[in-house]
Amino acid sequence: EFKPLVFSGVQPTGNLHLGNYLGAIRKFVALQENNDCIYCVVDLHALTAQLVHEDMPGQIRSITAAFLASGIDPKSHIVFNQSAVPQHAELAWIFNCVARIGWMNRMTQFKDKAGKDREQASLGLYAYPSLMAADILVYRATHVPVGEDQKQHLELTRDIAMKFNLDFMDHIRRAGQGIDITVGDEPVHAYFPMVEPLIDGPAPRVMSLKDGTKKMSKSDPSDLSRINLMDDAEAISKKIRKAKTDPDALPSETEGLKGRPEADNLVGIFAALADKSKEDVLKDFGGQQFSVFKPALVDLAVEVLSPISAEMRRLMADPAHIDSILRDGGERARARAEKTMNEVRDIIGF
Ligand code: ADP
Ligand code: NA
Repeated sequence: EFKPLVFSGVQPTGNLHLGNYLGAIRKFVALQENNDCIYCVVDLHALTAQLVHEDMPGQIRSITAAFLASGIDPKSHIVFNQSAVPQHAELAWIFNCVARIGWMNRMTQFKDKAGKDREQASLGLYAYPSLMAADILVYRATHVPVGEDQKQHLELTRDIAMKFNLDFMDHIRRAGQGIDITVGDEPVHAYFPMVEPLIDGPAPRVMSLKDGTKKMSKSDPSDLSRINLMDDAEAISKKIRKAKTDPDALPSETEGLKGRPEADNLVGIFAALADKSKEDVLKDFGGQQFSVFKPALVDLAVEVLSPISAEMRRLMADPAHIDSILRDGGERARARAEKTMNEVRDIIGF
């Protein structure tokens, strides 16, 4: 058995939104209790879509502040910035040579983000999942909390780990590394673990407030489509009041939310914020109109988010303090990553 270790990352691009919070950061916080956790601001990933950024250090501090304000403890765990640990990029190169072009061609996020003119997308955007695999596996992490949009990338991470383990099996043994595990029914002598995605809860995919079929995203041009972590009570209230719904009352828990994407999204958000199941929310609100449900959702969202944004503001007022936390985390992450890279270089015969 590999020792359980949690890794995840968030890009320092634009404002964090409720999808990032419920799909990722909130899970990061909960996982600290029973696990060793490494949480990363993935600045190298931010280059894939756009090379030049207005205020990268400020963006990095802002994500770090969101981590800390949400309750991540940088002393018991590790919080750092990706480019402070060059071993990520080194392992990503090796993984670029392990991964197959056919695997990359199946990635739906690349197709979405590259848009129509795919020939003009960066090679980095195309190879993004290989860097993500390196982020995780350079610590030999076993569990990755993310939103549902990252599921396919985690499957690719497993494919890369498996191919590395199989292609280098004899080398891994000869280097005195790796352990015997079973994958499916197959015994494998593995250097890299098969990561388990942690994608669960009532809102694994938070959808746009304007269009219940698109995911809530910072790249949506309409600010009304998302609740930002830094939105004040007035903005949160306005966005939820304006959120698209159907004209019917909320269903009972037995009727359920099938075929009602907007209602499903709002109930899922309520459930996640209240730490309940969607069924429990429908037990309370089934048969009620949105004119009753929405104000309750506003109150709950403000109650959960306003202490976080207040604490983020407080932290952001002291950039040197945030930088010192990142420096400390970077040193600890680098020591662990270098241990892995020493072993990997030995395995591949460098
Ligand atoms: P974005 O997708 O907005 O560019 P990132 O790629 O930095 O954000 O994602 C950071 C984390 O937030 C990832 O774990 C991702 O799965 C999660 N996430 C992003 N959008 C959503 C969403 N709409 N619902 C749930 N989780 C999400
Ligand atoms: Na994403």
